[in-house]
Amino acid sequence: MGKDVIIACDFAGAEQTFAFLDKFTGKKPFVKIGMELFYAEGPEIVRQIKARGHKIFLDLKLHDIPNTVKKAMAVLSRLDVDMCNIHAAGTVAMMKAALEGLTRPDGSRPLLIAVTQLTSTDQQSMEEDLLIHQPIDQVVMHYARRAAFAGLDGVVCSPLESGKVHDACGKGFVTVTPGVRFADGDAGDQKRVMTPAQAKEIGSDYIVVGRPITGDADPVAAYARCVQEFVD
Ligand code: C5P
Repeated sequence: MGKDVIIACDFAGAEQTFAFLDKFTGKKPFVKIGMELFYAEGPEIVRQIKARGHKIFLDLKLHDIPNTVKKAMAVLSRLDVDMCNIHAAGTVAMMKAALEGLTRPDGSRPLLIAVTQLTSTDQQSMEEDLLIHQPIDQVVMHYARRAAFAGLDGVVCSPLESGKVHDACGKGFVTVTPGVRFADGDAGDQKRVMTPAQAKEIGSDYIVVGRPITGDADPVAAYARCVQEFVD
């Protein structure tokens, strides 16, 4: 499985997204489409970006009863995305149903990645709102192991957690890591950051990079710098 840089296309609409993607006249980057863009533009934006030759991580974080998730995943696999995700909190039954729904008649399917605890959830909110009293890092690792047990391909995690996830779930279990910043860049609202080179060193399989590329005056050069640090 190849290491790659995924650009988070956190744009409000199709026009901005295509203006951004038009700049990439060489290699077509792997892109992440999130809820904002998908809900604004619908599945057509996925078909159009795919038709331009990009791989797509559709970051919709599904969480519902197993039957509903299974049917929704079948729709996403027909959209021909390359990676999608669900909440591990939906249980092993939901994760298994998602895999079934994603699998195409020929046996192929997009990669399926689990979200463990969102980074916006801290120990206090997990205890107060979810009544989970274990230390949050143990909860994250437990969710990762349950995702591996269900047959998923990997998890979204901080680059700082990639090593631990690989130790617990195997080297082949994919880690997809946001929170990446250049050494000379602005961390912005990301608290625990790593450079692309450090993420490579620690064994992340994919890095998800948004503003360090989308907010740069020369996004193509910023993307190339990420690829050079992380992949080459
Ligand atoms: O602009 P930036 O590089 O911070 O973008 C990171 C991307 O990864 C955003 O789309 C953000 O929603 C996503 N993400 C994250 N932290 C998580 C999960 C997803 O930053 N724990």
